[in-house]
Amino acid sequence: MYNLLKGKRGIIFGALDENSIAWKTAERVFEEGGTFVLTNSPAAMRLGSLQELASKTNSQIIAADVTLVSDLENLIEKAQLILGGKLDFVLHSIGMSVNVRKKNHYIDEDYDFTQKGWDVSALSFHKLMQTLYKKDAMNEWGSIVALSYIAAQRVFPDYNDMADNKAYLESVGRSFGYFFGKDKKVRVNTISQSPTPTRAGNGVKGFEEFISFSEKMAPLGNASAADCADYIITLFSDLTQKVTMQNLFHDGGFSNVGVSQAVLETFSKYNENSSNTR
Ligand code: NAI
Repeated sequence: MYNLLKGKRGIIFGALDENSIAWKTAERVFEEGGTFVLTNSPAAMRLGSLQELASKTNSQIIAADVTLVSDLENLIEKAQLILGGKLDFVLHSIGMSVNVRKKNHYIDEDYDFTQKGWDVSALSFHKLMQTLYKKDAMNEWGSIVALSYIAAQRVFPDYNDMADNKAYLESVGRSFGYFFGKDKKVRVNTISQSPTPTRAGNGVKGFEEFISFSEKMAPLGNASAADCADYIITLFSDLTQKVTMQNLFHDGGFSNVGVSQAVLETFSKYNENSSNTR
C-alpha cells in the first residue's frame, strides 16, 4: 500500500454488500490511510451488511436517501463533525431503475418509474454536489467521483432507461465540474466501468451475455470491482489534481474496440456449423 490517502476524509455512497464497487473502494481507501463515513438508503441498510464493512474500516454509518436534499444536508454536516473537518473525497456509487426491476422494456416505459430511477441514479449526483457546494464542505483539491457505463454513448438495448440516466449523470459531472473547479478547486469525474457482477449489474437483463461479450472484446479483459476501486484511489489521491470534468473509461480497452478476434471467431464457428448442416 502507498498511503496515498493519508489524512484525507470523505463520504462513500452505495456499499450494499461485498460485491459492491463502493464496498471494494471503502476497503482500499482504508488501506491507503483515508477516513470516511459510509452511507446508504434506509432500505438498503436493512437489506445489506454495511455494519460489517463499518467495523472493518473503523467508520461510522449515516443513512441517507440520496433523492432527499434534507438527508444529504444532514449527512454532510454530520460527516464533517465525525471526521473532524471538510471533505477531500466523495464517491457516488448509486444506480437503480424501477423499469429494469419490473422488466418494462425501453419502448414501454412507465414514466413514474422512469422519474424515480432518474432521480436516484442521475439527478442525485446534482443534488449531492449542490449540497456539498452550498455547504462549502469540500477542501481545495478535493475529488468527487461517480460511476457510469458506456450505454451513455452507445446502444446496449437491455440497459434500458439506465442508459439515459448515465448520459445525464455524465453531463452533470461535466457541468458541475466546471463550477466546482473554478470556484473551489475541486475536481469532478465519472468513471465508465466494465460490466461488473454486483446486485445492480445482475439486475440487467442478459447480464451474463453482456459480461462475456465485453470480456471477449476488451484486450485486457473486463475491469473488476477491485480494479475499479484501485482506479478510484488514484482519482482521490493528489496524483491526479488536474484531471476534471472527464468521463474516464475503465474497461480494459472495450470502448475503443470495433470488433475483436475472439468475437469474430464465434461467428466463424457459427458459419462452419451452419454450412455443415445445410
Ligand atoms: P450495487 O447494487 O452494489 O450498488 C448500488 C447502490 O445504490 C446500492 O448500495 C443501493 O443501496 C444504492 N441506492 C439505491 N437507491 C438509493 C437511494 N435512494 N439512496 C441511496 N443509495 C441508493 O451495484 P454496483 O454495481 O456496485 O453499482 C454502483 C455504481 O456502479 C452504480 O452507479 C452503477 O450503475 C455503476 N456501474 C455498475 C456496473 C455494473 O455492471 N455493476 C457497470 C458500470 C457502472
